[in-house]
Parts: sequence; C-alpha cells; structure tokens
Amino acid sequence: MQTKLLNLLKIIMAAASFLLTFEFFNLQTSFAEQPDCLMCHEPLSKEKVVHAALQMGCPTCHSAIDATDIPHKKTNKIAKGLSSDQPDLCYDCHDKSMFSKKVIHPALGMGCTSCHNPHSSKNNKLLVSEPPDLCYNCHDKTKFNGKTVHPPVMGGMCTSCHSPHSSDTEKLLLSKPPALCFNCHDKTTFEQRKPHMPVASGLCLTCHAPHMSGNLALLVKPMFDLCTSCHKTQSSGTHVLAGPRGSHPIKQGTPDPSRTGRDMGCSSCHNPHGADFDKLFYQQGIYKKCHKY
Ligand code: HEC
Ligand code: HEC
Ligand code: HEC
Ligand code: HEC
Ligand code: HEC
Ligand code: HEC
Ligand code: HEC
Ligand code: HEC
Ligand code: HEC
Ligand code: HEC
Repeated sequence: MQTKLLNLLKIIMAAASFLLTFEFFNLQTSFAEQPDCLMCHEPLSKEKVVHAALQMGCPTCHSAIDATDIPHKKTNKIAKGLSSDQPDLCYDCHDKSMFSKKVIHPALGMGCTSCHNPHSSKNNKLLVSEPPDLCYNCHDKTKFNGKTVHPPVMGGMCTSCHSPHSSDTEKLLLSKPPALCFNCHDKTTFEQRKPHMPVASGLCLTCHAPHMSGNLALLVKPMFDLCTSCHKTQSSGTHVLAGPRGSHPIKQGTPDPSRTGRDMGCSSCHNPHGADFDKLFYQQGIYKKCHKY
C-alpha cells in the first residue's frame, strides 16, 4: 500500500517536473524567437504623440511577424504581418459606431492610415498632417481659396463643420444648417419680427457658399442676380422710383452713400435676413438712411 502511494507520488512529481522544465524551455525559446522590436524599430515610437496601443506590445497588431529572421517571415497573408486588415484591426479597440454612421467618408475605405500614423506622430491625434493640409492631400485646394474665404476655412478648421469619419448628416456635417451656422453665428440676430422667408426656412446655403466665393459676403452669386432669381419683378433693375433722375442704382456698381466702401445693392435698403419693419426695411422710412427730406 505504502509503496503504491510512493510510486504514484513519484510519477506525479516526475510529471510536474517535466511540465515545469518544458514550460521553462518553451518560455525561453519564445523569448529567443521574438527579439525586442524596438532594438531596430525604435524611431517609429519616438514622435511626440505615441499611440497608446504600442504599450500593449507590437505583436498586438503584428501578430504574424516572425522577427527571428530578416527579412521577417510572415505567418499570414496580410500586409506587414498584421492580425487583420484595416479598418477591422482598429475596431478591435476602437468603437466602430464612430465610423459607421449613415454617411461614411470614402477616405475610410483608403485605410485609417491614410490619415493616422499607427505608431507615433508629431501631430495631435496621430495625424499624418494637420487639417487643412491633411484634407488637401485628397481634396483640390483651389476650391477653398477665393476672393472671400470663410474664416474657419481660412483657419483650417475643417473639423469644426465636418466629421473626418462618418456622420448622420449629409456631406459629413456635424449638424445641418442653420443649426451648424448657429454654432458660431448669433442666432438671435436672425430672429427679427419679420423674417425673410428663405432664412426662416433655414436655407442659408441657398444664398451663401460655406467655404469661399468670388462675391461679397460669401454669396453664391452677385447680389443682384441672387435676389432677382426669386424676385423676378425687380430684375428689370428699375425698382422703387423711376423718376426724372432715373431709378435707384441697384444693379451697376454705384457707391452706397450710407455704407462706406460698399456698393448700392438690394441689401442697402432690405435686410436679407429679416427685419422688424415691413418689406424687410432696416428702419421706418427707409429713405431717411440716405436722404434728408
Ligand atoms: C495599433 C496597431 C499597431 C501596433 C501596436 C504596431 N503597429 Fe506597426 N503597423 C501597423 C499598421 C496598420 C501598419 C501599416 C501602415 C500602413 O499601411 O501605412 C504598420 C506598419 C509597420 C511597419 C512598416 C513600416 C511603416 O512604418 O509603415 C513596421 C516596421 C512596424 N509597423 C513596426 C512596428 C513595431 C516595431 C511596433 C511596436 C513598437 C508596431 N509596429 C506596433 C499597426 C501597428
Ligand atoms: C534586428 C533588427 C530587427 C528587429 C529586432 C526587428 N525588426 Fe522588423 N524589420 C527589420 C528590418 C531590417 C526590416 C526591413 C526588412 C524587412 O522588410 O523585413 C524590418 C521590417 C519590419 C516590418 C515590415 C515588414 C514588411 O512586410 O514591410 C514589420 C511590420 C516589422 N519589421 C515588425 C517587427 C516586429 C513586430 C518586431 C518585434 C517582434 C521586429 N520587427 C523586430 C529589423 C528588425
Ligand atoms: C490594441 C488596441 C488598439 C488598437 C488595435 C488600435 N488602437 Fe488606437 N488607441 C488605443 C488606445 C488604448 C488609445 C488611447 C485611448 C483612446 O483615445 O481611445 C488609442 C488612441 C488612438 C487615437 C487617438 C490618439 C490621441 O492622441 O488622442 C487614434 C487616432 C488611434 N488610436 C487610431 C488608431 C488606428 C488608426 C488604429 C488601426 C490602425 C488603431 N488606433 C488601433 C488602442 C488601440
Ligand atoms: C480623412 C482622414 C481620416 C481618416 C481616413 C481617419 N481619420 Fe481618424 N481622425 C481624423 C481627424 C482629422 C481626427 C481629429 C478630429 C478632431 O480633432 O476633431 C481624427 C480623430 C480620430 C480619433 C480620436 C477621436 C477623438 O475624438 O479624439 C480616433 C480614435 C480615430 N481618429 C481613429 C480612426 C480610425 C480607427 C480610422 C479608420 C476606421 C480613422 N480614424 C480614419 C482623420 C481621419
Ligand atoms: C485619403 C484621401 C482623403 C483625405 C485625406 C480626405 N478626404 Fe474627404 N473625401 C475623399 C474622397 C475619395 C471623397 C469622395 C469624393 C469627393 O467628394 O471628392 C471624399 C469626400 C468628402 C466629403 C463629401 C462627403 C459626401 O458625403 O459627399 C467631405 C465633406 C470631405 N471629404 C471632407 C474631408 C475633410 C474635412 C478632410 C480632412 C479632415 C478630408 N475630407 C480628407 C478622400 C479624402
Ligand atoms: C463653416 C462650416 C464649414 C467648414 C469650416 C468647412 N466646410 Fe466643407 N462643407 C460645408 C457645408 C455646409 C457643405 C455642404 C455644401 C452643400 O451641400 O452645398 C460642405 C461641403 C464640403 C465638401 C463636399 C463638396 C461637394 O461639393 O459635395 C467637401 C469635400 C468639403 N466640404 C471639405 C471641406 C474641407 C477640406 C474643409 C477645410 C478646408 C471644409 N470643408 C471646411 C461646411 C463647411
Ligand atoms: C466654426 C465657426 C463658424 C461656423 C460653424 C460658421 N461660421 Fe460663418 N463665420 C465665422 C467667423 C469667425 C466669421 C467672421 C466673423 C463674422 O462675420 O461673424 C464668419 C463669417 C461669415 C460670413 C461673412 C463673410 C464675409 O466675408 O462677410 C458669412 C456670410 C457666414 N459666416 C456664413 C456662414 C454660414 C451660412 C454658416 C453655416 C453654413 C456659417 N457661417 C458657419 C465662423 C463660423
Ligand atoms: C436670401 C439670401 C440669404 C439667406 C437665405 C441668408 N443670407 Fe446671410 N447674407 C445675405 C446677404 C445678401 C448678406 C450681405 C448683407 C450685407 O450687404 O451686409 C448676408 C450676410 C451674412 C453674414 C455677414 C454679415 C452679418 O450680417 O453678420 C452672415 C454671418 C450671414 N449672412 C449668415 C447667414 C446665415 C447663418 C444664414 C442662415 C440662417 C443666412 N445668412 C441666410 C443673404 C442671405
Ligand atoms: C430662394 C428665393 C429667394 C431669394 C434668393 C431671395 N428671396 Fe426675398 N423673399 C422670398 C420669399 C419666398 C419671400 C416671401 C414671399 C414674398 O413676399 O414674396 C421673400 C420676401 C422678400 C421681401 C419682403 C416682401 C414683402 O412684401 O414684405 C423682400 C424685401 C425681399 N424678399 C428681398 C430680398 C432680397 C433683397 C434678396 C437678396 C438678398 C432676396 N429677397 C432673395 C424668396 C427669396
Ligand atoms: C433704395 C432702396 C431699395 C433698394 C436698393 C432695393 N429696394 Fe426693394 N423696395 C424698396 C422700397 C421703398 C419698396 C417698397 C415700394 C415698392 O414696392 O416699390 C421695396 C419693395 C421691395 C419688394 C416687395 C415688393 C412688393 O411688391 O411689395 C421686394 C421683393 C424688393 N423690394 C426686392 C428688392 C430687390 C431684389 C432689390 C435688389 C435688386 C431691391 N429690392 C433693392 C427699396 C429698395
């Protein structure tokens, strides 16, 4: 009985010792197999902003790199021995919902790394370059430069209006105009007693270009053409008074006596957004703006 127990104990101990040695051996070989990646690849982790994923080790993403040889062997068919293709690789740790809203930026299909460095970068958010230059890598820069440029476009704040990834609003907008515009422009200045119908309907983009324009105030057309595209009656150019001295000069470039540096135009008398007075006049007795009767 005692010898039986002793033998059993011996077997157990032998097995345990075998297992221990085996594990130890195994651990040693796996250490030997994968050298310290940073020994040779240190530069890629050295920029100012470092991806937190690097702390989890290079094989977190490069699971199929066997670095015992140079060139390294790959144990799968995915480029750079990555564990999966983009964007799935990134979705292992990043919430996919941020990238799969209704409108998806086609740039995502070109890989997250068309905008982000997966390791480290001198720019915030690991960007390969900062907006707007980042955006101009794929979008024609000349479309954002003109006689009048919207200040946030000038300042490269593309992401103050657009999501770089995906959005529930068309054109990747953070919200729809006019709400988008009211993020920066005081809403109350558009809430006069008698609002101009297109403004009340939130059609800011019917009159204004969001990025740049060859016209005053980012208008999509010269003011006369813009206003008369809806108000045909005024398109003859003879509006208000056609007395002995002719009509009001609302078409040809004539200086506006009430606004230095500006030409006469529809907005000399009418507030294009809305007013507290009839006919969208800036004031009661609009003629008093220029005439001393
Ligand atoms: C978050 C996932 C991720 C981690 C972690 C990661 N990499 Fe990468 N790595 C990538 C991706 C994605 C690419 C492909 C880049 C591309 O297509 O432009 C890449 C490419 C590379 C390349 C090819 C050269 C280059 O810069 O494009 C090397 C070398 C490399 N990684 C080494 C490393 C090393 C070393 C580590 C650990 C310090 C590491 N990687 C950690 C995702 C990762
Ligand atoms: C002894 C230096 C050395 C070490 C250590 C090393 N690498 Fe490399 N690595 C290289 C060289 C050299 C290249 C470029 C030649 C090549 O493509 O294999 C390279 C290329 C790569 C590439 C790009 C492969 C491709 O298909 O373009 C990746 C990814 C990479 N290494 C990841 C790693 C990871 C992960 C480790 C750690 C497990 C590691 N390396 C350790 C020297 C090294
Ligand atoms: C292994 C997990 C992991 C993977 C895979 C991963 N990330 Fe990350 N990433 C993180 C963590 C953790 C952070 C820091 C916390 C955060 O901002 O969510 C981070 C942060 C970021 C940031 C913000 C950096 C900053 O400075 O605010 C970007 C951009 C990013 N990752 C891009 C990517 C891209 C692109 C991929 C795929 C190529 C990827 N990540 C794959 C874990 C991961
Ligand atoms: C067209 C360029 C572009 C592409 C492609 C792109 N990103 Fe970004 N990403 C950005 C910009 C720009 C920011 C910074 C946004 C900001 O500052 O408001 C950003 C921010 C991030 C952040 C930080 C989020 C936060 O709120 O701080 C993460 C994480 C991220 N991106 C992951 C990814 C992943 C994963 C992919 C691929 C599915 C991807 N990005 C593709 C441009 C891009
Ligand atoms: C890697 C290339 C690439 C980069 C970088 C890039 N885009 Fe795009 N973007 C595209 C492509 C491709 C389209 C679809 C064709 C087009 O409209 O030009 C697109 C379309 C868009 C659209 C229209 C989306 C729609 O639904 O019609 C907006 C808005 C946009 N991009 C904004 C940006 C902004 C802002 C940046 C910088 C943060 C940026 N893009 C950077 C490739 C890119
Ligand atoms: C003030 C908000 C705002 C800013 C800032 C802004 N955009 Fe836009 N962008 C818009 C609006 C609004 C539209 C939709 C126009 C439309 O539907 O007619 C748009 C449309 C686009 C489109 C699609 C063009 C098309 O004709 O379909 C692209 C691409 C784009 N923007 C890129 C950019 C880039 C790049 C920047 C930075 C240089 C930028 N945007 C800055 C508001 C903005
Ligand atoms: C991120 C902030 C921001 C957003 C969003 C924004 N704007 Fe602006 N906008 C400005 C700033 C700053 C100015 C210059 C100061 C001013 O006139 O209020 C400006 C000026 C303007 C001008 C006068 C330009 C000139 O040359 O006289 C118009 C018109 C304009 N914005 C229309 C819009 C419209 C329409 C929207 C919505 C599609 C919008 N803005 C959204 C910041 C913004
Ligand atoms: C019917 C056309 C029209 C519509 C719709 C319109 N605007 Fe205007 N807007 C103009 C005209 C014309 C001017 C130039 C007025 C002037 O001569 O000073 C202007 C000027 C501006 C200015 C610069 C001067 C100022 O008043 O601060 C801003 C900002 C502006 N608009 C924002 C908006 C926003 C935001 C919306 C939507 C809520 C909008 N506009 C809708 C025609 C329009
Ligand atoms: C997209 C079409 C559209 C554009 C562009 C437009 N309007 Fe209007 N406007 C309307 C509508 C609709 C009304 C309300 C119906 C009406 O009274 O004719 C209106 C009303 C007016 C009124 C008030 C009429 C009254 O009897 O009280 C004036 C004045 C006016 N607009 C001036 C302008 C000026 C100035 C511009 C150019 C800056 C302009 N409109 C651009 C559609 C437009
Ligand atoms: C010198 C000031 C002045 C200018 C400039 C001006 N208007 Fe007027 N507008 C008036 C006066 C005064 C009335 C009311 C009397 C009338 O209908 O003739 C009026 C009335 C209107 C009405 C309402 C018409 C109706 O039947 O009640 C519209 C619409 C209008 N203007 C559009 C325009 C457009 C579009 C422009 C630019 C092409 C313009 N106005 C330029 C002073 C002006």
